[in-house]
Amino acid sequence: MTKARILSGVQPTGNLHLGNYLGAISNWVKFQKEFENFFCVVDLHAITAQHNPKTLAQDTYNIAAIYLACGIDLEYSTIFIQSHISAHSELAWLLNCITPLNWLERMTQYKEKAKKQGENVSVGLLDYPVLMAADILLYDADKVPVGEDQKQHLELTRDIVIRINDQFGTSTEPIFKMPQPLILTEGARVMSLTDGTSKMSKSDPSEMSRINLLDSPDQIAQKLKRCKTDPIKGLTFDDPQRPECHNLLTLYTLLSGQTKEEVAQECSTMGWGQFKPLLSEVIIESLKPIGTRYQAIISEPDYLKGVLQQGKAQAEKVAEKTLLRVKDALGFLKYEK
Ligand code: TYM
Repeated sequence: MTKARILSGVQPTGNLHLGNYLGAISNWVKFQKEFENFFCVVDLHAITAQHNPKTLAQDTYNIAAIYLACGIDLEYSTIFIQSHISAHSELAWLLNCITPLNWLERMTQYKEKAKKQGENVSVGLLDYPVLMAADILLYDADKVPVGEDQKQHLELTRDIVIRINDQFGTSTEPIFKMPQPLILTEGARVMSLTDGTSKMSKSDPSEMSRINLLDSPDQIAQKLKRCKTDPIKGLTFDDPQRPECHNLLTLYTLLSGQTKEEVAQECSTMGWGQFKPLLSEVIIESLKPIGTRYQAIISEPDYLKGVLQQGKAQAEKVAEKTLLRVKDALGFLKYEK
C-alpha cells in the first residue's frame, strides 16, 4: 500500500523557535514513518518581506541543517530547497491566473503584514498564499502539518483546488487532490514569553519573547527567569485571565512528555519560583540534543550538500510530473523534441 503524502516547510527568516518546533517540526518528526514526506525550506517565501541577500543562502542552509538536527530521517523524508525547483514558481503563476484577487486581500496575515510594510508592500506578499498552494499541490500532498497561524492559507489552497478542478478537471479526473491540514490541538499556537496573548514569532523585535532552538542553556534560563507571569500561586490551564500560565504549562506538558492531567496535578499548588526552574530544565534538556546534532551537521558541509542534491532530484521528479499534468489540463502546447 502506498503511504499518504506530507508536505510542509519553514521560511528561512531568522532563528527557529519553540513555536516552529512544537507547532510544526516536532510533528513532522513524530509522524514521518507513517507517511511519504517532503520538507522544504521555503526561501522564495522569505523574500516577500525585505530580505538580506548576503545572509539568505546561509539562513537557508542552516534551516535544512535544523530539519536534520530535529530528527528528520532521510529514510522516510526528502529535504529540499524551494528555489531549487522552478516548478514552484511556475505553478504559482498558473494558479495566480485562476485565483480571484479578493481571496488574497482577505488573508489575515497579509493584512497584518501589509499594515507594517506600509507603502512598500509588494505584490509577492499578497501572492504569498498562492505560492504556498503551489508548494502543497505540486506534491499531491494529502496532509500538511502546520501551526494554527497557517490554517487560513490552507483553506485558500483548498478553495483553489475546488476552483481549478471545477474549471479544468472532470469528476473522474480531478487535477488536484484535496489536501488536509494537520494541526494538533496542543502546541499549534505557542505564545510569546513577554505577552501570553500574542504568538511567539521570529519577527518580534524582542529576543526575550521567544526561545530559539539554538539558544544556550544560559540564554534559556535568563529568558524564563524574566518571562511574564502573574501574581497567583497555584498554576492552572485554560484560565482566560492567565494566558501566560496556560502557555508555560503547555510548553512543560509537550516537552516533558507528560499528559495535561499529570501536569495540572503536579503544578496545582506550585508557585512561579518553583515552576520556572523546572520548565527551564525541561526546555534545556529537550533542546540539547538538537544543538549537538546541529553543530555536527553544520561542520560537515559536504554531507548537507549531498542531502540537498538528493532532495532536489527526488522532489523535482514529482513536481515536474504534476506541473506537466496541470499544463496539459490548462491546454498548453506540449514541447516536442
Ligand atoms: P513559518 O516559517 O512562519 O513557520 C513555520 C511553521 O511554524 C509554525 N509556527 C508556529 N506554530 C505554533 N506556534 C507558533 N507561535 C508558531 N509560529 C510559527 C507555522 O504555522 C509553520 O507551520 N507559510 C509558511 C511556510 C510555508 C508552508 C508551505 C507551510 C510555505 N509553503 C507549504 C506548509 C506548506 C510560513 O510562513 O511558516
